[in-house]
Parts: sequence; structure tokens; C-alpha cells
Amino acid sequence: MDPENSLIQEIQALRKERNAIILAHNYQPGPIQDLADLTGDSLELSRKAQETDADVIVFCGVHFMAETAAILNPDKIVLLPNPAAGCPMADMITAQDVRRLRQEFPSVPIVTYVNSSAEVKAESTVCCTSANVNRVVASFSDADTLYLIPDQNLAKYAARHTQKTLHYWKGYCPVHHGLSASMVLKAKAAHPDALFLAHPECRPEVLDLADVVTSTSGMLRYVRNDAHNAFLIGTETGILHPMRRDNPHKSFYPVSARMVCPDMKKTSLKDVLRSLKTLTPQVRVAEEIRLKALQAVERMLEI
Ligand code: 13P
Ligand code: SF4
Repeated sequence: MDPENSLIQEIQALRKERNAIILAHNYQPGPIQDLADLTGDSLELSRKAQETDADVIVFCGVHFMAETAAILNPDKIVLLPNPAAGCPMADMITAQDVRRLRQEFPSVPIVTYVNSSAEVKAESTVCCTSANVNRVVASFSDADTLYLIPDQNLAKYAARHTQKTLHYWKGYCPVHHGLSASMVLKAKAAHPDALFLAHPECRPEVLDLADVVTSTSGMLRYVRNDAHNAFLIGTETGILHPMRRDNPHKSFYPVSARMVCPDMKKTSLKDVLRSLKTLTPQVRVAEEIRLKALQAVERMLEI
């Protein structure tokens, strides 16, 4: 048996023994996505983490995602197989920054992208993801001004769908913010028949060139249901794996081969196995922070 298959078999056996569920984000390496019980975007994974009756959640993604699972599941063991997997955008704002914002804009609700720490969520009014940001913004029927943190591009995208004034923090995702309009135009010229799908973390001038703007799972649904045969994908290249696997007769091209999130690639099958064996590294959130962050996450899940 090849080494990868034997690792997978060991993981399957231990998963049953531990009553564990393996969740994987759509950007994870192919073998991890194929092994997972569930793959999805940040919103879907949060919901699954809320619904599961497993004792152990193995979160193959980055730290803020596992932390969201821990916020929702204080009685479960939440494992992040490679603890070095973080999100540079989440690190661009601190709880202290948010406290300062609240002083500066006392009556303005703070809408926080889930790509943020538990401490930051704990200081926020509500969370959002790329899949529900417009609904979350619209849910504030009485407020004409909101503050969106930490992603400036997600905020500028949301601003296109509302009459409200949206202030924003100047954070960004290095992977999506690094994509320029000229890179998109070059890729479009190379694949003139392809439909261009972009993630809301891309710059506004990139979104201007997009045929569809949606979350990672939104993209997966779109390419499955749309009649086009070729797609140019404006998000992290890990998503090409399920696209190609599930739509073998369609063509998918990364808009730029540079759109690789190093943190999303840190988790290996060996890490998953070690993590299941040792039940480490666990992601825990101090109860005081967790309860405050939970309010913001639950408010989002109710919308
Ligand atoms: P999605 O919620 O669309 O999967 O995005 C998460 C993310 O980290 C994008 O960079
Ligand atoms: Fe964070 Fe960007 Fe990586 Fe998503 S792709 S986890 S936003 S650095």
C-alpha cells in the first residue's frame, strides 16, 4: 500500500475510535479535502461545527476557523492539526484596536469578518463571512452607519450593496489583495471564453472585472450549475481541486498561479494523524472571551 493510503487508513480507524469529525476548508490540500467528513466555506464550517455530535472536531484550516468551532463547542475537543496555520489578515487588528474604535464611534455597530481572533470577535456587535456579509449589513435596519473590520475589500464589496455608510479597517488578505486588474486582464486574454469568478476579498478594480463575486462554496455551486465550460478562478488555488474533481468535463484556470495561501497549505495528513493520536494541539478560548465572542457569532448564525 502506498504511504498516503496507509496514512488515510490509520486516520479513518482513529477517527471512528475517537468519535471525531474532520472539517476542511475549500483551500486545503487535495488529499485533506478528500478525506474530510465535510468541506466548506467559513460559514458552512461554522454551522457544521455548531451541529455536530462528535466528541472531537479536527479542523483542517487556519486558526480563526478552529477557534470559531471552539467558541461554538466549549465541551468538545477542537484540534488544529498544524498550530502554525494562521491568517495574516486576522492578525491585522487587535482587541485593543476594536476597543478604541468603539470609543471613537460609540453608537456604530461593529461587523467583524470571521477572519479575526476570538478577542476581536468578543468586542464586536456581530460577525459575518464572505457568504453572508450583505445580509448581515442589511439586518441593521435602524443603523445608517456601520464599521466593518478587518478586511477593507470585503467592506468595499458590501458598500456596493447597501445605502448605508460603511467605515472600514484597512486590513487585507495578502493572497487576494495581491491580485491586480492587469493580472486579471492578462488571464482573460489567455482564456477569452472563460467566466471570471472572484472572491470578495479581491480589490474593487478586480471585482469590476468579475462575472460573479461570491464565497468559496458559492463558487463551487456556481460552476456546478452554470452552463459555461470554462472558468477563471479568482481565489486561492486550493479550490481548483474540488472544482476539477467534481466537474471533469469543464476547464478551470487560476487567474494567477500566485494565489496560494501558505497557511492553508500547512496541514498535512501526518499532522491530522498525529493530532488524532495525541489529541493535540487543542484550540481553547478563555470562557470570558468565549461567551462574548459567542454572542457575535450566534447573532450572525441567526441572520
Ligand atoms: P470563504 O468563507 O469564502 O471560504 O473564505 C475564507 C477565506 O479565508 C478566504 O480567504
Ligand atoms: Fe487568511 Fe487570505 Fe489565507 Fe484566507 S486566503 S486564510 S484570508 S491569508
